[in-house]
Amino acid sequence: MNTLTDKHILLGITGSIAAYKSADLVRRLREQGAQVQVIMTAAATAFITPLTLQSISGQPVYTQLLDAVTESAMEHIELARWADMVLIAPASADFLAKLAGGHADDLLSTVCLATNAPIVVAPAMNSFMWQAPATQENCQRLQQYGIKFFGPATGSQACGEVGKGRLLEPNELVDQVQEVFQTQFLAGYHVLVTAGPTREDIDPVRFISNRSSGRMGYAIAQSAKMAGAQVTLISGPVALPPVAGVQLISVYSAQDMLTAVMTRIATVDIFIAAAAVADYRPSQLFSHKIKKYDADWQITLERTPDILATVAALPHPPFTVGFAAETDNLLEYAREKLQQKQLNMIAANWVGVAGIGFDSEKNALNVLWAEGGIELPCAAKTELAGQLLEIIIQQYQQNGYLPHQKSGSY
Ligand code: CTP
Repeated sequence: MNTLTDKHILLGITGSIAAYKSADLVRRLREQGAQVQVIMTAAATAFITPLTLQSISGQPVYTQLLDAVTESAMEHIELARWADMVLIAPASADFLAKLAGGHADDLLSTVCLATNAPIVVAPAMNSFMWQAPATQENCQRLQQYGIKFFGPATGSQACGEVGKGRLLEPNELVDQVQEVFQTQFLAGYHVLVTAGPTREDIDPVRFISNRSSGRMGYAIAQSAKMAGAQVTLISGPVALPPVAGVQLISVYSAQDMLTAVMTRIATVDIFIAAAAVADYRPSQLFSHKIKKYDADWQITLERTPDILATVAALPHPPFTVGFAAETDNLLEYAREKLQQKQLNMIAANWVGVAGIGFDSEKNALNVLWAEGGIELPCAAKTELAGQLLEIIIQQYQQNGYLPHQKSGSY
């Protein structure tokens, strides 16, 4: 079976003697049904000719960032959008450094900055160059950015050394490409996640908020990124580090969160509201600190906008998933919310139970949709996030939704 049918692979070739293997790699990728376009750096053309790659890929080969011959001079954006994966094989030490530094002075490095597709590098270099502290530091940084590594392998090298730094063989590279696509079940989808609490100011020093740590939403964002999605994370104030490769929008209040969500929702395929949005805010915001007096103080509260319900009520809503945190009647209340807010799905969890839910590493979920449901037993939030996304995508596809990028509706 052709496992890469209709997958768009943008192959970057950089300056390494191993570039001769790239021709065989293109042939094998195409045998598996992939469409392959090639970008070569100037150094790569010293090792293998663009004409060879053009003949084998059946496509023009790109070598220039600024090419007066092309119509739009926007090649880098078009190629970046076209790709389901950017695979750089062989990736030289110099190119890894360039990528780690965020440079954009040639076509390949510019495409890497401009793409949403997963980027994979297959390094090839002398073993001492691979072990050099600068190279290792660059690789660590690239991993933090969410860039994947295929190899390098250990063995005899063109320079006569024996050690780590060999490019993987083309068949091994193809196996690894297939593995990435198998786990990339959200490739082509734009997932928007809300996370954390919101804060509703009373005066310049006081606010109303809740115990949400943001961990569930951040875990969902990370899992969605790992599954290949383009992810936007709109987060209230939390003490968590940003998620690599995920666009983070930090907000403060429920109103800020609503604005941030609504300005982005048109291109979203799956909306997951994991934030613990404050349901009420003070009706009056004091511009100065309120002094204490002997008498009691009463604050009048008004409702905040319901972000989830607002999204679900759009004329063309994305696949919409809410959360319900309850201390009693979990399933009953969750089903009520599913129906009242017109959601596709709701993930319900107990709160007030030691060790799970708010401000905890673990959780247990009851995931409900109109015709059914499933129980996800207590597990780390990171693990649950992956399970939840798999259920979401099953329901999404059963309901006949198509991701924006695939349906071309924007
Ligand atoms: N939500 C939201 N905007 C709000 C309030 C909640 O988007 N202003 C979302 C949450 O992110 C979550 C779900 O709605 O996905 C929670 O539903 P909600 O009815 O607000 O639950 P509770 O706050 O627990 O409300 P109730 O007191 O009715 O149980």
